[in-house]
Order: sequence, then C-alpha cells, then structure tokens
Amino acid sequence: MNIKDFVSIRDFSASEIEYLLLLGRQIKAHPGTYIDTLKGKTLVMIFEKPSLRTRVSFDVGIQQLGGFSLYLSPSEISLGKRESVYDVAKNLERMVQGIMVRTFAHEVVEDMAHFAGVPVINGLTDYSHPCQAMADYLTMWETKGNLERLKIAYVGDGNNVAHSLMFTGAQLGAEVWVATPPGYEPRADAIAWAQGRASETGGSCRITNDAKEAAAGADVIYTDVWTSMGQEAEAGRRRDVFRSYQVNSALFACAKPDAIFMHCLPAHRGEEVTYEVIDSPHSVVFQQAENRLHAEKAIMLELMKDVSMGLMRPAAMPELVHA
Ligand code: CP
Ligand code: NVA
Repeated sequence: MNIKDFVSIRDFSASEIEYLLLLGRQIKAHPGTYIDTLKGKTLVMIFEKPSLRTRVSFDVGIQQLGGFSLYLSPSEISLGKRESVYDVAKNLERMVQGIMVRTFAHEVVEDMAHFAGVPVINGLTDYSHPCQAMADYLTMWETKGNLERLKIAYVGDGNNVAHSLMFTGAQLGAEVWVATPPGYEPRADAIAWAQGRASETGGSCRITNDAKEAAAGADVIYTDVWTSMGQEAEAGRRRDVFRSYQVNSALFACAKPDAIFMHCLPAHRGEEVTYEVIDSPHSVVFQQAENRLHAEKAIMLELMKDVSMGLMRPAAMPELVHA
C-alpha cells in the first residue's frame, strides 16, 4: 500500500480497504504471528476528546505488536492553541513512528498528516471515524459472510460515524441507507462522494427521513448517540428531535429476522436504542468493540512497519564517518 496516513476511507482504493480488513482478520485469528512486527516503535496518541475504546485498542494493539504508546490527554497539547499543528508535527516526527489524533476539526488531522513525516491516523473527528468503520465492516464480514449484498441501515444522526459507514460501504459495494430527522442528514459532500463511489462499485447510498423505509428488510441496523462529543449544549433539543428515530423492538422488527444490531458505543440505553435491542442476541456491539483492536493493529502494522526509527537522522553521524 502506498498511502502514508489513515485519515479518510476515501483516500484508499476498494482493494486496499479489503486488504486491511483481511489483515485484521488474520491478526485476529493468529495474533502470535504478529508479535514484534512493530518492535520498539512508538505511537503517540493525541486525545482532545474523551475515549474508552479508541484509547484502549490503540494502546493494547501497539503493545501486542511489540511497540509502545504514549497518551496525551486533552489538557496537555491544545493543538493549534498552545502550539501550532505544524510545530507539533515537526516535533513528534523526530521522536515517534506514528501519530494518532482524536480532535474536533477534520482539517487538523489533515494538516497533521500533511506536515508530519510519519504516519497519522484519524482517531475520530467531527467529520469522520474511519477506524470505527473498519471494525464495523470487519464485524459485518465475520457475522454475515459477505459485504456486497448487505443492506445496512443507519438510523439516527447523520454524523461522523454515519459518514465513515457510508464511505466504506460505497468502497465495498454495499447498500447503505441513512435515516435521519430532517435537518440532521449527513453532510452534502459526504453524500455526493458516497453516491458517486457507490455507482462505480455496484453499491448504493440512500438518504431518507423515514426510519422504517431504511430498516425494511435490512441485514444490519446501526445507530449512534444523538448528541456527539462537542454538541452537549444541544442535547435537550436533540432528544426531542430524534425521539421517533429510536431503534426499538418495533423498528428492529422491520429488518430481516437474522438482522444484527450495531452501535459504535458509548450507547445511551433508552435514548437512541432500547435495552431490548442492544442487549438482545441480535446485538454484536461488543464484538464490534473488540474488532477495533484487530482492525487498528492491521492499520498500524501496514502504516508503521517501514517507518525507520531514525527517520529524520542523517545516514551516518559525521564524526563516525571520519573516525
Ligand atoms: N467508538 C469509539 O470510538 O469509542 P470511544 O469514544 O470510547 O473511543
Ligand atoms: N458520534 C460520536 C461517536 C463516538 C465514538 C461522537 O462523535 O461523539
């Protein structure tokens, strides 16, 4: 693979996405084979928002591959405030072999990738969550056996998770439906890209305000929180707006009898999903969470395996050359 960074699913070809998913499955099946494949390498993790799964999966994942991680909390870096993204990138590339960033503006991760000489991984922005989507499709592949002919219905907010689900589905030729309240649809540019790409891969991306239409005959019903990190001030209004988009037993009954329920987590039981659905045998949410680990090990391995520990160092120290 010729790509330095994992910033957006859109940057990859379908075969590159498939390759990473396959590698994730191989790593899951044979974790011992991959011990020390990133021996001694360090991933720095910059978090400007809270996390459970992303932090733990990257942290454990890099260690299982023989490397180290360094966690930088929201109070430590202040990207673009205490120090410019450029300067942070230029400092870190001298010390680490990979940078994972969870932040607000997507452009911050794009800038970091542009400036840093080492791989940059998007650990969630307001616009997208590509590592989540890789774990999601890995889970669908495991449970459904194929991805091309799946009907995937996302019901809820047209947010970062919805965008990455659409992008990956379009790359893999899936049929993705997104049902949101009016005014909460995915961003127009995300819809345009997903529909354009899907038309080339044999998939489709349909946007509707009718949750039942999306759920009808679906293989997968997916939802996410109604209020994403950074939108807390809107939580009360959003609870009202999204009420009729709850994934409950009645909505889930519109899907195929063997449909699975998915959620990126954290979940708010009683809001976007009921206990009956998320805690039912149809729910694969914890398998999905586990697959963050395997999918991200594949991403780190592919991106960081060829990064030299002395990336920015001259080939030989001058005093040694003439010794
Ligand atoms: N799904 C997910 O990204 O979870 P965290 O916010 O806990 O990392
Ligand atoms: N849409 C959610 C996803 C959390 C993993 C958020 O951005 O808060």
